[in-house]
Formats: sequence, structure tokens, C-alpha cells
Amino acid sequence: MKIGLLQNNPPFGEVANNLEHVVRVLTDQKADLFVLPELFTTGYQFTSRQEAKELAETIPDGKTTEALIALAKKINSVIVAGIAELEGDAVYNSAVIVGPNGFIGRYRKAHLFDTEKEIFQPGNTPFEVFDIGFARIGIMICFDWRFPETARTLALKGADIIAHPANLVLTHCPQAMITRCLENGVFIATADRVGCEERIPGNPLKFMGQSQVVDPLGNVLFRASLTQEAVHVVEIDIELARNKCLNPNNHIFQDRREDLYRLE
Ligand code: ACM
Repeated sequence: MKIGLLQNNPPFGEVANNLEHVVRVLTDQKADLFVLPELFTTGYQFTSRQEAKELAETIPDGKTTEALIALAKKINSVIVAGIAELEGDAVYNSAVIVGPNGFIGRYRKAHLFDTEKEIFQPGNTPFEVFDIGFARIGIMICFDWRFPETARTLALKGADIIAHPANLVLTHCPQAMITRCLENGVFIATADRVGCEERIPGNPLKFMGQSQVVDPLGNVLFRASLTQEAVHVVEIDIELARNKCLNPNNHIFQDRREDLYRLE
């Protein structure tokens, strides 16, 4: 199967333009699964909860999710993308998964980074695995990578691929994902953005690109540049994620010593 990554540089708040740009860029692309960045239409650095509320959308009947469903039908792909989600009075840093048959599910970011805590509600959705037929997809959003329990839980629940919409600012992530893939025998597809935002004076954020696909053996199959927008598709062998045996004597899940992993 083929996984596509989109790396963008969305001007803050230009939701309609940013959405249209992505739809245009992906319209002639072919992959079974596309992963888009975190908050891919709004930009990242909100200055207040009110500002986030004004740019956030409901899921699944908001404009961005509807446009992604239309795109998924048109290009016959599954798409995972990060969206600011409005539910009642609450805003979540969320991701949707949609396909040619419509809405599949959502995930709300569990581990909020830095000033995100002033803007978003912490996620309240479980770490869920979505079976899309040819693969089982788990979702984590950006800073979730820093908590190994996220990828571990998704892998133990059967994920083959972890789709990872991101707006990365912590430089260790691309290399750290190699370890997450080895620990869990999964693919991780990180879709990041490039560019800078300094909407909070004195708190500039430089996003570091390097969107990538890493395989369960720790090979980086593709890594994008630090500064350029990009679309890239890589071919993967999903069977690599289904074989958790390192050799005839070691199985990375069955060899876990849960009896010793206790704090008391
Ligand atoms: C981040 O979680 N977007 C840094």
C-alpha cells in the first residue's frame, strides 16, 4: 500500500485558503492513506480561547471535514488530518479520519503542549484503532509522541500504522520516532508543517518540517526537508507491522514482562 504525506505552511487564520490549497495539491495525487499536519487549516499559535473558538469547526459536519470527505471520495483515499474542533463551548486539538465512504472517526489530542493548555480542552477520546480494511490505523497528534504510552497503547490495540499529524517544535521527534517504531513494530507517518509563527510576542515558534515515514524495522523510508512544503508518497509493506517476531525466540509483545512492570 501507499502512504502519502503533505507538509504545508499555512498562514494563520486563513482557513478557507489553506483548505483550498491542500485540496488542490492533493487532487492529482494517489495513495491509499494521506496524512496531513496538525491544525492544518488554522495555523497553530492561538492567542486566546476565544480566537480558537472562532476558527474551530464541528466534526463531522464542519466545512473542513466535509471538504476532506469530498476529497477522499474523489481520490479514493483515506485521509487523516488535524483540525481545531468545536464542541459546545469546548475547543479540542483534534484529528479526523475520513475515507471514500465518509466520516470514520476522530481523536482529540491527549497531551497538550505548553500554551495549548490555555486554549484547548485535554482530549477525552480513547486511543482508538480504525480498521480501514487494508490497514489498522491509530492516531496521535504531535506532542503525544513524547509519551511512549501513546504509541504503545495503539500498538497493543493492533495498530499497523500510527498516523501522526504534527506541528513540531521539539527537535528530537524525527529521530525518536525510529525508537517508537522499533519498540512497537509499527509504521509511523508524521506529517509536519514548516515556517514560523510569533503571534504571542516573545514566543516565536519555528516548525521543523521533516515529515517522514518510518517502518517497523526503524528505517526512515522518506524524510522531507526542514523548510519546504512537500507532498510525497511512499510504498510500504504492511506485513512488516504484523510480524512481531525478532527471531524464533523473541516476540516483542509476548515477551513483555507485565508481571514486573508494576509500581507497587
Ligand atoms: C506540538 O505538540 N504541536 C508541539
